[in-house]
Amino acid sequence: MKPRLFSTLRCLHHENPLGLPRSGAPPQIPRMQRGLPQKRDIKDVKKVVAVSSAKGGVGKSTIAVNLALSFARRGHRTGILDTDIFGPSIPTLLNLSGEPRLSNNNQLLPLSNYGLKSMSMGYLIPEASPVAWRGLMVMKALQQLLHEVDWGGLDILVLDLPPGTGDVQLTITQQVHLSGAIIISTPQDLSLKDATKGVALFRKVNVPILGLVSNMSSFVCPGCGGKHPIFGPLGKIREMCGRNDLTLLGEIPLHPKICEDADRGKPTVVADPDGEEARIFNSIADTVGELIGLGK
Ligand SMILES: Nc1ncnc2c1ncn2[C@@H]1O[C@H](COP(=O)(O)OP(=O)(O)OP(=O)(O)O)[C@@H](O)[C@H]1O
Ligand SMILES: [Mg+2]
Repeated sequence: MKPRLFSTLRCLHHENPLGLPRSGAPPQIPRMQRGLPQKRDIKDVKKVVAVSSAKGGVGKSTIAVNLALSFARRGHRTGILDTDIFGPSIPTLLNLSGEPRLSNNNQLLPLSNYGLKSMSMGYLIPEASPVAWRGLMVMKALQQLLHEVDWGGLDILVLDLPPGTGDVQLTITQQVHLSGAIIISTPQDLSLKDATKGVALFRKVNVPILGLVSNMSSFVCPGCGGKHPIFGPLGKIREMCGRNDLTLLGEIPLHPKICEDADRGKPTVVADPDGEEARIFNSIADTVGELIGLGK
């Protein structure tokens, strides 16, 4: 039998791409409209950490996957859940594809690489097909990704969030017990302004913010060896952290290797585990682990 999520998504994707109610069927009312839902644990998962930024393209998925791999390499049972329904990145980042199998109790079984378990919408629809859904369908898929995956026992699950402060962020923050959130930003004003909104959202719903990661902080020129702050002076991000009472968890340089490793599906932490960039990712993972009480 096909996984229920798979069948639902296939059906929605091919037959009802705009998510309109079927004729005769009453439209479903999302739980959100009937008052605030109860927060739930994700089954068999001890700690859940969300990687977020209101701004798109600042490196959430790249950082989420490298942090998750750092946790896995330290011996923690680790998973990563791609909650970006419209633009899933985890299949590419982990070089994984294919339909997930079903467990005995009808749950989706994660796909693994480099000792890291993963689940993504990208495994459930063909790679080149865009998802053209209305919010209700996205919420349905998200619920299933959150609560119908058999992780088989995890110490930590990293959630890679989509950009924005919309439905997905609200659903996750209101419905899942999160150990905390990590905010990603570049030092550019354009990104910092959105990151500040992300911080406000998590605080509003009482999710602890573990800190901020400054990505693409500076570029070390291989020619002259000079350090160039492409996205603006680093002082800006430190000021923003000070103003918002945030811990600066680390500063990741803009480096072509990080980009190339991402594209070939072998993130930097596994591609070059002894390199400087891996050291920074590992150090951030260690700090996060301490903050949430992950243990050794
Ligand atoms: N430190 C870095 N150095 C070089 N390239 C990077 C770095 N961080 C991220 N990138 C590249 O920047 C692009 C955006 O990264 P990524 O997809 O992780 O961002 P995102 O915030 O998850 O985007 P979205 O909002 O679309 O989900 C990718 O091409 C990625 O390889
Ligand atoms: Mg992403």
